[in-house]
Amino acid sequence: MKIQSLFLLAIFSLAYTHLVKGQSLSGCQTRCGNVSIEYPFGTSQGCYYGGDNSFKLTCNETNKLIFGGNEVINITHNGELRVLVTRSYVCYNSQGNQTGRSNRWTRLGNLTFSDKNRFTAVGCNTYAFLNTNEVGNYSVGCMSTCSTPRETNGTCSSGGCCQTSLPRRINYFRVRPYSFSNHTSVHSFNPCSYAFLVEDGMFNFRSSEDLMNLRNITRFPVVLDWSIGKHSCQQVGSANICGWNSECSNSVRGTGYICKCKEGFDGNPYLSNEKGCKDINECTTSSTVHKHNCSDSSTCVNTMGHFLCTCPSGFNLNATTNSCMRKGRPEYYGWTQIFLGTSIGFLVILLVVSCVQRKMKHKKNTELRKHFFEQNGGGMLRQRLSGAGPSNVEVKIFTEEGMKEATNGYDESRILGQGGQGTVYKGILPDNSVVAIKKARLGDSSQVEQFINEVLVLSQINHRNVVKLLGCCLETEVPLLVYEFINSGTLFDHLHGSLFDSSLTWEHRLRIAVEIAGTLAYLHSSASIPIIHRDVKTANILLDENLTAKVADFGASRLIPMDKEQLTTMVQGTLGYLDPEYYNTGLLNEKSDVYSFGVVLMELLSGQKALCFDRPQTSKHLVSYFASAMKEKRLHEIIDGQVMNEDNQKEIQEVARIAVECTRLMGEERPRMKEVAAELEGLRGTKTKHKWSEQYPEPQEAEHLLGVEILSAQGDTNAIGYDSIMNVTRLHIEAGR
Ligand SMILES: *[C@@H]1O[C@H](CO)[C@@H](O)[C@H](O)[C@H]1NC(C)=O
Ligand SMILES: *[C@@H]1O[C@H](CO)[C@@H](O)[C@H](O)[C@H]1NC(C)=O
Ligand SMILES: *[C@@H]1O[C@H](CO)[C@@H](O)[C@H](O)[C@H]1NC(C)=O
Ligand SMILES: *[C@@H]1O[C@H](CO)[C@@H](O)[C@H](O)[C@H]1NC(C)=O
Ligand SMILES: *[C@@H]1O[C@H](CO)[C@@H](O)[C@H](O)[C@H]1NC(C)=O
Ligand SMILES: *[C@@H]1O[C@H](CO)[C@@H](O)[C@H](O)[C@H]1NC(C)=O
Ligand SMILES: *[C@@H]1O[C@H](CO)[C@@H](O)[C@H](O)[C@H]1NC(C)=O
Ligand SMILES: *[C@@H]1O[C@H](CO)[C@@H](O)[C@H](O)[C@H]1NC(C)=O
Ligand SMILES: *[C@@H]1O[C@H](CO)[C@@H](O)[C@H](O)[C@H]1NC(C)=O
Ligand SMILES: *[C@@H]1O[C@H](CO)[C@@H](O)[C@H](O)[C@H]1NC(C)=O
Ligand SMILES: *[C@@H]1O[C@H](CO)[C@@H](O)[C@H](O)[C@H]1NC(C)=O
Repeated sequence: MKIQSLFLLAIFSLAYTHLVKGQSLSGCQTRCGNVSIEYPFGTSQGCYYGGDNSFKLTCNETNKLIFGGNEVINITHNGELRVLVTRSYVCYNSQGNQTGRSNRWTRLGNLTFSDKNRFTAVGCNTYAFLNTNEVGNYSVGCMSTCSTPRETNGTCSSGGCCQTSLPRRINYFRVRPYSFSNHTSVHSFNPCSYAFLVEDGMFNFRSSEDLMNLRNITRFPVVLDWSIGKHSCQQVGSANICGWNSECSNSVRGTGYICKCKEGFDGNPYLSNEKGCKDINECTTSSTVHKHNCSDSSTCVNTMGHFLCTCPSGFNLNATTNSCMRKGRPEYYGWTQIFLGTSIGFLVILLVVSCVQRKMKHKKNTELRKHFFEQNGGGMLRQRLSGAGPSNVEVKIFTEEGMKEATNGYDESRILGQGGQGTVYKGILPDNSVVAIKKARLGDSSQVEQFINEVLVLSQINHRNVVKLLGCCLETEVPLLVYEFINSGTLFDHLHGSLFDSSLTWEHRLRIAVEIAGTLAYLHSSASIPIIHRDVKTANILLDENLTAKVADFGASRLIPMDKEQLTTMVQGTLGYLDPEYYNTGLLNEKSDVYSFGVVLMELLSGQKALCFDRPQTSKHLVSYFASAMKEKRLHEIIDGQVMNEDNQKEIQEVARIAVECTRLMGEERPRMKEVAAELEGLRGTKTKHKWSEQYPEPQEAEHLLGVEILSAQGDTNAIGYDSIMNVTRLHIEAGR
C-alpha cells in the first residue's frame, strides 16, 4: 500500500511539473482576427510568458492584434513575429515646396529586427536614412536618382528604388527620406520620396505606379526576432521552458533561447499538452517537408518521430531506393531487361537451328558409331561379356560423347603418356571420378584387336595389384579403354625416368617385387583362366600414391586354356625383357613371364635399364651384365648404391639369386611364378606371410572356358610367318624405352 501511494505521488508530481512548465493556458485567447495567439505570447495576465510584458499582445476592438503600436500578422514557433510597420514619406508640389512628411520613431519593445528585413527607399532624387539611438547612434543610408521612370521587372535595384540590408538587434529607430532637388525635376511622375522597412521579397517594385503614390500601400510586413530570456540554453540548463518532445536552441539574436520540436514532431514546443509537440505521421501527412520517402506509401509505417518502409515477406528493402525487391532475385528494368530479352530470343533461335542440325548430324553419327562398334568387335565383346559366362569385373560400355567430355575433346593437356599401344589420356567422368583413357593409334587395326583382347583379359581379373578396367568405348573409329587412374607414374619412371626419387628404398623395392610376383602367380594359376601377361616390364608397372604396384597393359596377354600348357602365338614383347626361348620358338608359356620378371628384379636391384648401350658390349643386356657380376662375385658393384645397407645384404643376395634363376636360358630351369612369389614373400619376414592366402582368393570354377578357346584359336590361326617379321620392327622401337 505504502509503495503504491508513493508511486502515485511520483506520477502526480511529474504531471504537476509538466503543468507548471508547459501550462495548459485554458481560458486564454487563442485568436485575434485571423491571427492565432500561442504561448509564450498572450493577451492577458497568466497567458503570456514572463512578468515583464515582453510577450504581451493586445487585441483591439476591431480585432487587430497589436504589439508595440504595430499590427501583428503572424507569429511562428521558431522565434519570429511579423508586424506591419508604417512607411515614411516626404512630398513636394511642383514648385518644390514640401507638402507633407511623416517619419516617426518606432519602438519594438524587447523584440528586435530580424536580418530578413530590407531598408528600402523609393523615388527619384531620393536618399533616406535609418537612425537608431541604440548601440551608438548610427545611421544606414540608401540613395536613388533618376530623370525618367524606367520600366523594371519587379526587382528593387534601379530606376527609383534602392534596398540595403540591416544589422540585427535594432529595436528603436526612425526612417527619414530626403530629396536632392525638392522633386522639382521629377515632380511630374514622382512627387514623393518613400522609405520603409520590409521583409525581403515582400515588396515588388513597379516603377510606373510606385513612383507616383506607392500603390496606396502605407504599411509593410517586418520580421522581428523574439526569444526567451537573456541566457543561452547552456546557461539555463534544464530550467528552460520547453515542453514535450522539444529541445532548447540558442536564439539567432545572441541573447536568450527558443524551443524547437524534435525531428519528426510538430506543435507548440513551449507546451506540454495536446497542443505541444506531437509525432508527425509521415505516412499520411500532406506536408512535403515531413512526408515519407518510401517508394510506395503502402509500405510506410509510422513510428515515434520516424517512419519505416516495410516490405511484405519474400521481399527485401533496397535502402538506396527505399523500394521492395523480391528476395534473391533482383528485378532489372530498362536496358538490362531489353538486352536480356533480345539475347534470350536470339539464343532460342540459335538453339532451335543447332538442334535441327544436331539431329541430322546425330542420325549420321549414330549410324557411324554403330558401324564402328561392330567393326571394333563390339558385338563379339558384348556377347563374351554377357552371354558366354560370368565375368569377375563389370565392364561398362561408355558412349563416345561421354569420352569426349571426359577428356575435354582429347585435349593435349590431358595426355598422360604415349606408349606402343597408343595414347593415354586423363579423363574426368561426370561423377568427378578421375580415370585413365587409353586410345589406340589411328590406322593400326592390329591394335584394335589387342584392345578387345585386353578387355576380355582384364574382365577376368579382380586383383588389387592389377589396374582395374572400368569399361570401354567401341563407338569410335579406334576403341577406347577406361581404367582406374593410377597417379604416381610407372616403376620405370621411378627407377630411371622423370619421377626418379631416392625415396624408393629397399623395403619399397622388395614389396613391389613381392606384389608383382604375387600378381603374376595369380594370373598364371589362380585366376579363373590362366593368363600370361607377355609384356612384363617396369614401364608396365604402375605405382599409386602408396607406391603399391599395379600391373598394367594386358594388350599382349593371352588366356591359356586349362588343358594346354603352352600356346603358339606371334612373338610379342619388349626387347630386354623378352624370353629368348619364346623368341626363338614362338612357344608361349608362363615361364616367359618368369623371365621378364627376373629382368624386372634385376632392374630393382641395380637401378640399371634392361637394355643399355652405354654398357660394355658383353653387358648391354642387363641379364648378362648381372650374370657375369654374380659369377665374378662382384655383385656389390652393380647393386644400386642407395639400396644396399648392412642389414639387407643377405636379402639382396637372395633376391639377386632368384633374379638369375628366373632368367635362365631354358624355361624348364626357371622356377614357377608361385615359387618365386613365395620365396620373395619369405624374405619380407614372417609377419606378412599369413596374408598371402587372404589376399588372393582361390581360383574360381572356370566354367566359361569355351568362349576363351575360340579367342585362343583365333590367336593361333594368326599367320605365324609374318608375325615374327612384324615383331622385329616392334622390338626395335620399344628397345629405346
Ligand atoms: C487576415 O485578415 C486580414 C484583414 O483583417 C486580411 O486582409 C487578410 O487577408 C487575412 N488573412 C488571411 C490569411 O485570411
Ligand atoms: C523588456 O525586458 C525587460 C527585462 O528583461 C523589462 O524590464 C521590460 O519591461 C521589457 N520591455 C517591454 C516593453 O516589455
Ligand atoms: C486597431 O488597430 C488597428 C491597427 O493598428 C487600427 O487601424 C485600428 O484603428 C484600431 N482600432 C481601434 C478601435 O483602436
Ligand atoms: C504565419 O505564416 C505562415 C506562412 O508564412 C503560416 O503558415 C502560418 O499559419 C502563419 N501563422 C499565423 C499565426 O498566422
Ligand atoms: C512656396 O514657394 C513660393 C516660391 O517658390 C514661396 O513664395 C512660398 O512662400 C512657398 N510657400 C511656403 C508655404 O513655403
Ligand atoms: C545620440 O544622439 C542623441 C541626440 O540625437 C544624444 O543626446 C545622445 O547622447 C547620443 N548618444 C550617443 C551614445 O552618442
Ligand atoms: C529582372 O531583371 C534583372 C536585370 O535587369 C534580372 O537580373 C532579374 O533576374 C530579373 N528578374 C525577374 C524576376 O525577371
Ligand atoms: C527646397 O526647399 C527648401 C525649403 O522648403 C529650400 O530652402 C531649398 O532651397 C529648396 N531647394 C531646391 C533645390 O529647390
Ligand atoms: C489610391 O490611389 C489612387 C490612384 O491610384 C487614388 O485615386 C486614390 O485616391 C488613392 N486612395 C487613397 C486612399 O489614398
Ligand atoms: C538498390 O537499387 C539500386 C537501383 O536500382 C541498385 O543499383 C542497387 O544495387 C540496389 N541495391 C541492392 C542492395 O539491391
Ligand atoms: C529517406 O529519408 C531519410 C530521412 O528521413 C534519409 O535518411 C534517407 O536517405 C532517405 N532515403 C531515400 C531513398 O531518399
